[in-house]
Amino acid sequence: MIVLGIETSCDETSAAVVENGRRVRSNVIASQIELHRATGGVVPEVAAREHVLKIIPVIEQSLVEAEMTFDQIDAIAVTQRPGLIASLLVGTSAASTLARVGNKILIPVNHIEGHIYANWLDREEEMAFPIVILTVSGGHNELVLMRDHCTFEELGSTRDDAAGEAFDKVARLLDLPYPGGPEISRLALEGDPKGYPLPRALRGDSYDFSFSGLKSAVARLVQAEGPTLRRADLAASFQEAVVDILSEKLIHAAIDHGARSVHLAGGVSANTRLREIVQERLAVSLPGIPLFFPAQFVYCTDNAAMIAAAGYFNHQKNPTAYRDWKPVEASTRFGF
Ligand code: KG4
Ligand code: ZN
Repeated sequence: MIVLGIETSCDETSAAVVENGRRVRSNVIASQIELHRATGGVVPEVAAREHVLKIIPVIEQSLVEAEMTFDQIDAIAVTQRPGLIASLLVGTSAASTLARVGNKILIPVNHIEGHIYANWLDREEEMAFPIVILTVSGGHNELVLMRDHCTFEELGSTRDDAAGEAFDKVARLLDLPYPGGPEISRLALEGDPKGYPLPRALRGDSYDFSFSGLKSAVARLVQAEGPTLRRADLAASFQEAVVDILSEKLIHAAIDHGARSVHLAGGVSANTRLREIVQERLAVSLPGIPLFFPAQFVYCTDNAAMIAAAGYFNHQKNPTAYRDWKPVEASTRFGF
């Protein structure tokens, strides 16, 4: 089955062609990062306008790169929620119009489920269930249990900021550009992760996370230290605090739920220190249980290939559900 994926939930306009949920034939991403650097973050209205300009060229380019015509597409999968409403509407309008015109199956996809299915891209092997997944980005921060395809149980989430959001806010405090995650991890390479003692919230308490206290602690240090601030040490200490708590809760959840594989997904799964610490702790606590993270860095952050994959697996699970899917029904079903 050939699925055209469409993603416009935040600041990337993306379209991809994916075969059977795994084989990526194309994955075109028009990033708005440069545009949002000027404001240090995403301005929703600016993002939506940019999606309007980019959506059709990006879809066309995805077909060109896949060396396919629109006729060869079996279904269209589109991010339906969560995300910035005006941005989502650009993608869902384009997808539902194309589906109507081309008589294609239309599959609405939850963005977070998309991030989870990024781990199936470019991979042939079957993954053993149950799977415990830590999916973390700028907009979400969840621990999820999957007992089978397309069944998701939320074990925990953040009570305030997502970890990626904390990376972005701390980057601003350190005068680093948006998005902050890659910048902080680069600076952290030169710093001492024990350079500044920083708090770990909700340790051992539950599967929920909290990063606002950590962010405030960094803000206080920046103010108190002024020009004597050791920026690289602070970046390294902050990163260590985040990955320490993320990995600790992920491993606990994997033990508690008898995970047969453990996954990292979402923008923050691009963080190499997070991958390293989870791998180390997994080898100690659950030897033999494999760790998966997206096969390419580009599958960690927002992209349409992951949306096509999630759409494919949803369709496999429930093949008759999407033939007559109408956006208006989904807006009632999903509540926007
Ligand atoms: O998944 P994504 O593209 O967008 C959302 O759904 O939010 O994730 C973007 C987030 C940003 O907050 C960015 O700072 C973070 O992922 N990120 C990272 C790294 N690369 C991206 N955080 C930590 N380390 C990284 N290497
Ligand atoms: Zn995302």
